[in-house]
Formats: sequence, structure tokens, C-alpha cells
Amino acid sequence: MSIIFSGIQPSGNLTLGNYLGALRNFSKIQAGNECYYCVVNQHAITVPQDPKMLHERTRQLAAIYIASGLDPEQSTLFVQSEVPEHVQLGWIMTTLSYVGELERMTQYKDKASKRGDSIPAGLLTYPPLMAADILLYQTNYVPVGDDQKQHLEITRNLAQRFNRVYGDVFTIPDIYLGHDGTRVMSLQEPTKKMSKSDDNTTATIYLLDNPKDIEKKIKRAQTDSENSVHYDVEQKPGISNLIEILSAMTDQTHDEITAAYADKGYGAFKKDVADAVISTLEPIQQRYQQLVGDPELDDILEKGAAKAHAKANVTYDKVCHAMGLYRK
Ligand code: TYM
Repeated sequence: MSIIFSGIQPSGNLTLGNYLGALRNFSKIQAGNECYYCVVNQHAITVPQDPKMLHERTRQLAAIYIASGLDPEQSTLFVQSEVPEHVQLGWIMTTLSYVGELERMTQYKDKASKRGDSIPAGLLTYPPLMAADILLYQTNYVPVGDDQKQHLEITRNLAQRFNRVYGDVFTIPDIYLGHDGTRVMSLQEPTKKMSKSDDNTTATIYLLDNPKDIEKKIKRAQTDSENSVHYDVEQKPGISNLIEILSAMTDQTHDEITAAYADKGYGAFKKDVADAVISTLEPIQQRYQQLVGDPELDDILEKGAAKAHAKANVTYDKVCHAMGLYRK
């Protein structure tokens, strides 16, 4: 049995990228493992959030976790801000981090470059808080999309650094990439990842999009003029992205898909990609609608926070003792 931890930020409407890169792996690995899945609302505030929206999205994300297959009896679902050990250990991890290594993080550089002189310090100290999330549970595997590799690497470095100085407290976690690390790209700029914070909503398939919108967005997805379905990320990023999406949805290989569309054009291919996306998302959307207003969701999250707190506190206590952060 392994310990699994992952989190998603309630910073926008979830996308097909979040689902294929992360969410669907959460439920695949829950059986037989001890799993913690967190709504990381304190990471979301590293950039400004509207308080009402943040509150609503926190609940919505919890409902999406369950709607996409997480069983709250098997997995612990909770909200980060309800388990204070996250920011407590986050601070300690910040003190172990070097400014230089934080400044070299690509996600920091991307986000900071858009903010001129007003770069929130929390963007820089985002990785040590993420390390704390993971290390508090003595996690073995972290299911995430491949854009999180660098964050996992710094988590491992911080854990090793701590263990070297203060003794063996933390388990060193590994990344878990399902389906060869599916990375879903923007439908309009297919060299850039699909993101919930993209202002161009036609570039993004949201998990709660209705079938008509999904069809429209896929039909209008950027491709090329060759009209030949085959995988070539350099020359054909748009078509390759759609092949990747279909492959992740149907478990067919790229070669099988290429062969199946050898004598068909982009129109037929896009229609099948849209159908595959719609048929996967429809049952999730139906379950989501039932769950989001249900008071049982609050019970689940309260029990989840209590369980997470009990586990996190054991590690946090060891950390404090190892570092001399105690009085008696
Ligand atoms: P976030 O909220 O940006 O994304 C949540 C998960 O979705 C994956 N993902 C993608 N996968 C494939 N293609 C895409 N286009 C795509 N877009 C997003 C991400 O890799 C991620 O797994 N730093 C994390 C949140 C976090 C966390 C943690 C994760 C905070 N603490 C502890 C794991 C463990 C993030 O920004 O995720």
C-alpha cells in the first residue's frame, strides 16, 4: 500500500487538461492505497482571487473530485486552509529554500513576467508550500501532469536537505504520470498548455462545458492545411494534440489512431474527438450537478479535514522536535 497525495487549485474552471493530466489518475490509483486529495486554496491566493469566487470554486472543485470518481470512503478529500499544518510546514520549507532555486522555477518565471514590478512574494514561495503539502503525509507518489515535474523535483530536494540536516523525517516522494504524462495543449495555440487561467475560452475545454460548446471548440481547433491525421508535434502541433486527447480518452495508441484515419479528413477526425470527449464528460457533469448543492459534501470535507489533520500533525510534530521548535 502506498501513500498518495495530490492537489488542484480552485483558481478557475477545471479543464480537460486537469482531467486527463491529473484527476482521472486520482481515482485510478485510489483502490488499495492511502490517498489524500486536497483543494489547494492557499496556493490559489498566490495571485489575486475574488473572495466570493474562491469560496464557490473551492466547493465546486470538491464536487468535481467526487464526480470524476473519487470515493470519499476510500480517499481523504479536504480543503488546504482547513488543515493548518500546511502553512506551518510551508513556512519551515521556505526557510530551507534558496532564493536562487525558487527564482529558477519556470512557473514562477512565467507568472512573474506578467506582473511587472508587483510580483507577489507568494509566487516565489509557492514551491515550498507545495512541498509541505506532499511531505506532511509521508507521500510515496504524487499523481500530477508533467508540467509539475519541476515542483516535484524541488520537493524531493527540500525533503533530502531537511533529512540530511535534522535526521530522517520525510519520505522522498516520486511523481506518478499516468498515460505517459498526457499534456493537453491549447486548442488555439497548440504549443502552449491548456490552462484554466487562459483568457481565450475557445482555446480551452472546461469539464462543465455543454456538448454543443465542446463540439464547436474542437471543430474550430487550430490545425494545418495538410488534411492528414498523423502525430508530429513539431510540424503538426494542433493535430498531434487532438490525437493525444483521443488516445488518452480511448486508450488507442497514436499509430492505431493514424491508421484508423488514414483515408479520412480532419472533419471526421474532429467529430470523433468531440464525441469521445462528450461521452467521457457527460456522466461526470451529471454527478457534479447532484453533488454540488448537497450538504453531504460539507460532511465529507469536514471528516476529510479531521483525518488529514490527524495524519499531518504526526509529521509536523516530528519536524518541530527535530528542529528544536518546542519548549517541553
Ligand atoms: P493546477 O491546479 O495548475 O493543476 C492541477 C493538475 O492538473 C494538471 N494539468 C495538466 N495536465 C495535463 N495537461 C494540461 N494542460 C494540464 N493543466 C494542468 C497539473 O499538472 C496538475 O496535476 N502546483 C499544482 C497544485 C498543487 C499540488 C500540490 C499538486 C499544490 N500543491 C501538491 C500536487 C501535490 C498546480 O498548480 O496544479
